[in-house]
Amino acid sequence: MAKLGMGVLGVGEMGRRHAENLRRQVPDAELVAIADSDIARARKIASELGVRHALGNLDDMLDRKDIHAIVIATPDRFHAQCIRAAAAAGKDILCEKPLALTLEDAASALRVVAQKAVRLQIGFMRRYDPAYVLAMQRVEAGEIGDPVVFKSVGRDKEEPPLACYQAGFNGMLFYNNTIHDFDLARWLMRDEVIETHSYTTVAIRPEIAQYGDVVASVVNLKYRNGAIGNIESYVQAIYGYDVRTEILGSKGAVFVGTLRQMPAVFLNANGSSRPLADHFLTRFADAYLLELKDFVETMGADRPPRVTGQDGLRALEIAVAAEQSHLEQAPRKVLQRTVEVDIFAANG
Ligand SMILES: NC(=O)c1ccc[n+]([C@@H]2O[C@H](COP(=O)([O-])OP(=O)(O)OC[C@H]3O[C@@H](n4cnc5c(N)ncnc54)[C@H](O)[C@@H]3O)[C@@H](O)[C@H]2O)c1
Repeated sequence: MAKLGMGVLGVGEMGRRHAENLRRQVPDAELVAIADSDIARARKIASELGVRHALGNLDDMLDRKDIHAIVIATPDRFHAQCIRAAAAAGKDILCEKPLALTLEDAASALRVVAQKAVRLQIGFMRRYDPAYVLAMQRVEAGEIGDPVVFKSVGRDKEEPPLACYQAGFNGMLFYNNTIHDFDLARWLMRDEVIETHSYTTVAIRPEIAQYGDVVASVVNLKYRNGAIGNIESYVQAIYGYDVRTEILGSKGAVFVGTLRQMPAVFLNANGSSRPLADHFLTRFADAYLLELKDFVETMGADRPPRVTGQDGLRALEIAVAAEQSHLEQAPRKVLQRTVEVDIFAANG
């Protein structure tokens, strides 16, 4: 089978990992080019990874006939426009979360994907994490009975630099961080969220309020079939990268996640210590690789992506309702839009 010619757009922290994985660990793909608006960065990463072409923009990548699929890892604000351009050029797409920052932008991107009949997968990589996959298998097997309560915690370690908020390239907490949990909330519960009620704070960093962002949030959820949920997000936990999820059901429960980096204990005269998970690139290293491998296999086998554009839209709708609830300090219904989704999206 011929290798799938691919390009990675945006080689910052996340895109670099995707490029590295493609170059070294996905034998069925050939990473033809990487592109970044910072061409010096594109050249540096291309040289480090031995990629033949370093480009300064998406258009140059789209012109290449030897590139059939593109990974979009630019900041959030550019996702929808890059999807539209890549789809219009007939390329298949793996786009980092979130799908877009507004519902209008999401809908217009999905429309082009549908019109051009390309495939779009959204980078909800937790769905590939072995522990989450096992949890889902147990839920699907009916082991916990009917789901009653969903609970998720997502805490990043380091305080984001103020420059990140000032640049405004990424969405606020709900779009950039909690969106992973909004996706898990649908996927693991096999149900749709119909209402959100957000509580937020800037207590320890009031200066970020002017950028429309928050330091921490708690979002309560109501589900269509009667279940309830709760998601906590926090951007500066200091002690580590802490992602955990629980599902409580009528017959039992599933807990996913641990603070431990690895099953090792170090002992000395001061006592003992256990290395804690400190970054998403280490905690979800397997998941990032497995999602890419699955994307490449999906293209080769001509089947629908496992995480669709519609999944990206549904998570975005929850984020939009959560932000409205935060702004209005009242519960908000989640409004599901009907958009022409791509012909490959029907797998759910
Ligand atoms: N799935 C995950 O767990 C996960 C984790 C981290 C980041 N992300 C997502 O990945 C994306 C990138 O995040 P990051 O942390 O790597 O950001 P980053 O700032 O480290 O990197 C972004 C890169 O994109 C380049 N860029 C900016 N605008 C561009 C454009 N229009 N065209 C081409 N290149 C452009 C920048 O020069 C930079 O090199 C974001 O959407 C983020 O939400 C996902």
